[in-house]
Amino acid sequence: MVAEKGEIYDEFEEHIVPPSWEERIWRIKDYKEFHDSTVKDKEAIERWWGGWAEKLSWFKNWEKVLDDSNPPFYRWFVGGETNLSYLCLDWQIEQGRKNKLAFIWEGEPFDDTIGRPKELKKCTYYDLYRRVNRIAYALREKLGVKKGEILTFYLPMIPELPQYMLATQRIGASHSIVYSGFSSLALAERIIAVGSRIVVTADELYRRGKIVPLKEIVDDAIEICEKRGHRVERAIVVKRTDRSIPWNSRDIWHHELLRRITENVRVEPERMGSEDMSFILYTSGTTSMPKGVQHSVGGYAVGLYTTMKLIFDLTDDDVYWCAADVGWITGHSYIVYGPLMTGTTALMYEGAPDYPRPDRLWHMVERFGVSILYTSPTAIRSLMKFPLENLKRHDLSTLRIVHTVGEPINPEAFRWYFKNLGREDVVASSTWWMTETGHIMTGHFPGLGKIFPLKPGTNGYPIPGVKLEVLDESGNPCKPGVRGYLVLATPWPGMLMTLYKDPEGYAVPWSKFGKSVFYTGDYAVKDKDGYIWVLGRADDVLKIAGHRIGSAEIESSLVLNPAVAEAACVGRPDEVKGEVPYIFTTLKQGFKPGPDLGAELKAHLRKTIGPIAASDATILFTDRLPKTRSGKIMRRLLKAVVTGASLGDITTLEDERAVEEAQKAYEHLREVMANEKR
Ligand code: WTA
Repeated sequence: MVAEKGEIYDEFEEHIVPPSWEERIWRIKDYKEFHDSTVKDKEAIERWWGGWAEKLSWFKNWEKVLDDSNPPFYRWFVGGETNLSYLCLDWQIEQGRKNKLAFIWEGEPFDDTIGRPKELKKCTYYDLYRRVNRIAYALREKLGVKKGEILTFYLPMIPELPQYMLATQRIGASHSIVYSGFSSLALAERIIAVGSRIVVTADELYRRGKIVPLKEIVDDAIEICEKRGHRVERAIVVKRTDRSIPWNSRDIWHHELLRRITENVRVEPERMGSEDMSFILYTSGTTSMPKGVQHSVGGYAVGLYTTMKLIFDLTDDDVYWCAADVGWITGHSYIVYGPLMTGTTALMYEGAPDYPRPDRLWHMVERFGVSILYTSPTAIRSLMKFPLENLKRHDLSTLRIVHTVGEPINPEAFRWYFKNLGREDVVASSTWWMTETGHIMTGHFPGLGKIFPLKPGTNGYPIPGVKLEVLDESGNPCKPGVRGYLVLATPWPGMLMTLYKDPEGYAVPWSKFGKSVFYTGDYAVKDKDGYIWVLGRADDVLKIAGHRIGSAEIESSLVLNPAVAEAACVGRPDEVKGEVPYIFTTLKQGFKPGPDLGAELKAHLRKTIGPIAASDATILFTDRLPKTRSGKIMRRLLKAVVTGASLGDITTLEDERAVEEAQKAYEHLREVMANEKR
């Protein structure tokens, strides 16, 4: 599976040497040498991460930075005690940030007559502290939430979402957040998986000018849970719009829940062990059921604090904006816990970056004087398509750092934003990491500029204390420029602790190259300078607009439809979204392929998984799928069909006609699409 260096890597040769950035954090002559010194052995790793941990506040100090005696079950900051809500609130107030803005929140609805958002809320650290305490009190005293209990949140990007997150942390409970682009069935499966007794949601949400009935989706999900034998006792509903919604006896308004609880109520933050569970976040893997990635308290906090300082170089004057959704790991780590833990003023935006006009994002950067922007390649590529005038009419001179995350950034998009957003003198990079890593692993951060020139499209160098390798199938390091598998060769503090109730599943990525090497599932190359270039997933996981979804999840959803016999899903490169799903299906007898059935199957996907799987999906019909003689579907060949790549080795293919048919189905579809365009 290891390919030689190809044309795409010609980009390696192109360097942008940034102008003289101040070495704010680093005055290190030779980063590579320094980096090596932080990963060379266990003591070095402990020294590096232990040093950062000392900067945080602990109720009880750890006895050991790292216990690596039983890989892949690592233990970080053993014996230490702290609390994420304490670090994000009380500790900030102790450091004099009581009146500093924690969040600036902007709602999506926009008033065109005055050219301003209809809703804007500003909240200091002290305001947030008071709100979180009240919610924590209500959860514990009114609803009996106990340490270790997991609540499910299905919420839009509204201020109450971080408040509920922090409130659960405060009382030692956990959350499992389900992105609001998942359907009722997907939500129900995730509620059942963690056994939530309480779900927190909103009546409705705004998205690109439309209203989505969130509570109705939750009602459906709770009904599904009940049919499957799981009872949700309470749905807490935050009021976001003014319209009436269906109501059940189990429902309680958020504002009613808080009624009669004094504004001054205080809840002592629970003393959490470093290794206690902070939250679960379901993410897609190669099986049909997503995996519940379980994060810790102490190690997660240290990893986040370090990367906030290192990659984003925060100062007390910064206005920081991570334009992701809290429903994904980027939002957990870099909208909520990371920024608050470092006393940052963070912007939180409810809606779409191009609503009501394509300059919304730039307008917001200007209005708030944003200095640090963390966004996605998909957002950049979609905004690049509009006339440059949209951007030029705004003053973006406050920006000093612009990073992206979630998917590879093509050099063209990188160059575009570096030039147009960043005047060619911002610090910019594509930071690579995953739900499982909890925090950023690579990046081109301030101070590195003089030592490491930027290369458009790269992920830069690993951060200190993190060792990334690119290995071939047999586990040997690949030569520079040769594609292989990206692995983490050392443990890191924010690492997942386990998969919820699935320790065997947890061990899987630790088995391909040995128990102490974490296989990420990504293809990458390391170039001759040691820069990492992540090329995309090596397994059957798709990244649609940066959203992670598994081929197996899509397939197992489709085969539940009475018309579908078999389904095979592959990703096809897309100019804006990075990748979109192409799904080959074979039908059961009596069903006819055609646009109607195609539309029905997309509706089915929307119902079973949600818009995130359905919106960009293309359904293809074929008579048979390419399989090995043992009956395994060869997705690799279907991928070759939709990308026009060569088929490679087909000796294990059972029936060559299957590939020809897939090719025909694909060509037919292209013709139909071309005709539609005409
Ligand atoms: C991909 C998102 C290239 C990668 C934080 C990884 C990236 C998966 C980058 C994890 C990047 C993330 N360049 N690819 N800068 N960042 N990826 O769990 O394939 O939603 O394995 O976490 O996103 O996705 P996840």
